[in-house]
Amino acid sequence: HGTSRINARGHLEIGGCDTVELAQRYGTPLYIMDEALIREKMRAFVDAFQDTGLAFRVAYASKAFSTLAMCRIVDEEGLMLDVVSEGELYTALSAGFPAERIYFHGNNKTPQELEFALDEGIYLFVVDNFDELMLLEHIAKEKEKRARIILRITPGVEAYTHKYIQTGKEDSKFGFGLDSGQALEGVRQALECTHLDLMGFHCHIGSQIFETEAFQLTIAKMGQFIKTCYERYGLVTRIFNTGGGFGIRYHKDDAPKEARDYVQAIAEAVRKYLHDLPVLPEIWIEPGRYIVGEAGTTLYTIGAIKEVPGIRKYVSIDGGMSDNLRPALYQAKYEAMLANRAQESATETVTIAGKACEEGDILIWDLKLPQVKQGDILAVNCTGAYNFSMANNYNRVRRPAVLFVKDGQAEVVVERETLQDVIARDRIPARLAPKKA
Ligand code: LLP
Repeated sequence: HGTSRINARGHLEIGGCDTVELAQRYGTPLYIMDEALIREKMRAFVDAFQDTGLAFRVAYASKAFSTLAMCRIVDEEGLMLDVVSEGELYTALSAGFPAERIYFHGNNKTPQELEFALDEGIYLFVVDNFDELMLLEHIAKEKEKRARIILRITPGVEAYTHKYIQTGKEDSKFGFGLDSGQALEGVRQALECTHLDLMGFHCHIGSQIFETEAFQLTIAKMGQFIKTCYERYGLVTRIFNTGGGFGIRYHKDDAPKEARDYVQAIAEAVRKYLHDLPVLPEIWIEPGRYIVGEAGTTLYTIGAIKEVPGIRKYVSIDGGMSDNLRPALYQAKYEAMLANRAQESATETVTIAGKACEEGDILIWDLKLPQVKQGDILAVNCTGAYNFSMANNYNRVRRPAVLFVKDGQAEVVVERETLQDVIARDRIPARLAPKKA
């Protein structure tokens, strides 16, 4: 996918760069991001929405992958930016991302985070619960400012990868429950706040969703609610954010839809269920994974190979759950290939083991590869979302570098951590006997 291809040397090439050369030059593990593919995915949503004729905004969910360079691309493409912490907000602002295109999510924004965002003049806050409503109203009043808000609603629809369910129970840490009546009470209270402007609603029903029906069902339920808010309180809903969650193909068994299919399904449901409102709200979406997931590839160097006779061959790589937590955390499945022998056909089945001191650190079970040798470069596909952003220093492993590749140019957008970085925040209490030099 994207700009990936096999070059004349039989190497995997991405963005016009030979990945084997990148591994030699920058070391492994190494995250590579295909910039053209990121931009293509963003434009696919925007173009599809333009064709619907609806008023819309496309946002990018920072949590999937946030760095200064990424924020610059989001800015250049004109998308909104969803942040969920002061760290993501700070990253965006440091990249020069305009505050008026940023909005703030999260179920427990701290007073400090709310103040920071309010001072910076972000576009809006997605208020998650009653406590936050009161806190934001209080902070805005103290600062003699106004804040735009939308309420996060838990619509009682939950989507999983291959199916969706409509749940009666609203057992989620996020949002105002729709079916329990919390949502309507939230609206009532929000309208009483003198320093908050209620612009509309948000809901997010899950991640890595393949079916469009789950989104349509949500829009149907929310359409009813939006009507009730109008009839009961005269509230004109200006913004309806239907969340993110659009699935991607990690594995050959995955069957996601195209951006256009998701957008068309949303537009169809909006027309069907919201048509009799005085004003059609602006429709927002906030994908993360769909935009960056397939654009990412992680390169590793193959090290120790261990055969358990008659059972399994373990092939160890120089990374693992510290740079890709998803297999250990969610049993996520990935596909991979040898970047340096991309043309050779598979002859053996191996298990790719990470280097963390944990039996559970297995990146891929039963992967078919050509006869593997130490020093081969393994390229794992679809590692652009929730990989770098969930990377950690378990075992005091250094986090890898991130490269953007495009038109034959590779740029480091995050430097590899150094050994000095590993101990940079450690302090030795003075009462411990000093070490003689
Ligand atoms: N909006 C809200 C309110 C969200 O909670 C999320 C994801 C998104 C948007 C973006 O969802 P996406 O389009 O990326 O599916 N770490 C997990 C995924 C966690 C998703 C959390 N919320 C993983 O690696 O699969």
